[in-house]
Amino acid sequence: MPLVTSKEMFEKAYAGGYAIGAFNVNNMEIIQGITEAAKELQAPLILQVSSGARKYANHTYLVKLVEAAIIETGLPICLHLDHGDTFELCKSCIDGGFTSVMIDGSHYSFEDNIALTKQVVDYAHAHGVVVEGELGRLAGIEDAVNVSAEDASYTNPAQVQEFVERTGVDSLAIAIGTSHGAYKFKPGQKPQLRFDILAEVEKRLPGFPIVLHGASSVIPEFVETINKYGGNMPDAIGIPEDMLRKAASMAVCKINIDSDLRLAMTAAIRQYFAENPAHFDPRQYLKPARENIRRLVAHKITDVLGCDGKA
Ligand code: G3H
Ligand code: 13P
Ligand code: ZN
Repeated sequence: MPLVTSKEMFEKAYAGGYAIGAFNVNNMEIIQGITEAAKELQAPLILQVSSGARKYANHTYLVKLVEAAIIETGLPICLHLDHGDTFELCKSCIDGGFTSVMIDGSHYSFEDNIALTKQVVDYAHAHGVVVEGELGRLAGIEDAVNVSAEDASYTNPAQVQEFVERTGVDSLAIAIGTSHGAYKFKPGQKPQLRFDILAEVEKRLPGFPIVLHGASSVIPEFVETINKYGGNMPDAIGIPEDMLRKAASMAVCKINIDSDLRLAMTAAIRQYFAENPAHFDPRQYLKPARENIRRLVAHKITDVLGCDGKA
């Protein structure tokens, strides 16, 4: 099976009240851990690559690793550019075999966001590739750009219809209180999402797939392991999983997860070295890291996204 777009995945997810996991990938072990879990559970997958991942691992290596995962699993897998920031980057990924791109013009004015997004949509659609746009601005760190909580802004539901109609995007990322990274809420702050905004967006765009970025839960088990073995992440707080389940039962069809993968991997490696300080074979410490990723993704698929058995 070749790489697929997310079109059919989203249609089924919307109708079925579940979401597809969009997991960030940076190397072979991450891809293997994610796809092993998805294969076991027969879940459709979106594997996404940021421009930072592309710089780190190289476009061709990542595409070929994902193609290898398709051969090994037989699953429908969509290869997506996460947070594309220019037309040129999106074009390069489209020309280089990706089946989906995000153009993130959320930091531009409404009109400039529309113009840039439409330029990418026109090129992508002419090449059979789907496009995710973004309206509203999440807090947190993406590709070394740090958006402070003060500069973040919720999506204005009054703008979504015009944005989707004028750009022709296939899915839309919105800001309802999630944020990137492991520090999503201040210590003592009660995690909250603006489900009223999501409901209003859903009403204005019936049947249209919505995307949630910054959706890691910052699983306490991994943070505790990191801190037990020399780390220092006392204030790490993520999105409660019941909120993600609720979003998935609404119009949210794609849930982005990166920080949880990083924490799972780092926890395993820290523990490994604490217990085996004299070891230095990368296969020995990357094996438990990959296993933690597999376990984490299996949990997300069955207990959060609800996309098990939907491949
Ligand atoms: O939203 C950002 C993703 O977590 C990707 O992070 O740009 O450091 O690869 P990155
Ligand atoms: P997290 O940092 O919450 O994992 O968000 C990842 C993301 O939105 C990637 O685009
Ligand atoms: Zn994101």
